[in-house]
Amino acid sequence: MSQILLQIDGKDVGAREGMTILEAAQSAGISIPTLCHHEKLEPYGACRICTVEAEVGGRTNLVAACLYPVEKNLIVRTKSEKVDRIRKMILELLLAHAPDAFDLQDLAKEYGADRNRFEKEASFCIHCGLCVRYCAEVKKKNAVGFVDRGTRREISFIPEIASRECWNCKGCFPLCPTEALQAAFFLTKALISFPPSSEPESGE
Ligand code: FES
Repeated sequence: MSQILLQIDGKDVGAREGMTILEAAQSAGISIPTLCHHEKLEPYGACRICTVEAEVGGRTNLVAACLYPVEKNLIVRTKSEKVDRIRKMILELLLAHAPDAFDLQDLAKEYGADRNRFEKEASFCIHCGLCVRYCAEVKKKNAVGFVDRGTRREISFIPEIASRECWNCKGCFPLCPTEALQAAFFLTKALISFPPSSEPESGE
């Protein structure tokens, strides 16, 4: 696989073809915040907190670092006034859903985000999809999925599957950026209505 040379925050970085900006930055020790990214899962691009400036041939675009592939002579700025402003706004919107999430609070402090800027619609879920994708892609169980649409979209465990598969797994819990409150709540609800009927598998 050919080597690609790009620049990130003024530093020359070598990357393999097919890598994303996020992967190239991480390999060079440059940190970019993420909320919906997980190295074991396919890129998803839901939260956009990883937004960076990507300049190619003199044109600059705002892109999601976890999705955007590296290319020759790409110039990336992971920090700028524009990038910081976008991350601040994203955090303020997410904090309306999960005002007490520690991950969000830490980032809010870093970007000066106001947790009270938008009216609270606390649902604890920021729709990062980590639990849903982990269960589908890594565990291959599909015990949790998204239901409903728009602002009513939320995660839900499928009781028939959860009662068999989740009891001793809960591998999705630590992935949740809002401290698994949503996952724990819905799993509990699913198990109450459909108690475990078989011996659980050991979790990963
Ligand atoms: Fe890139 Fe969420 S981490 S969009």
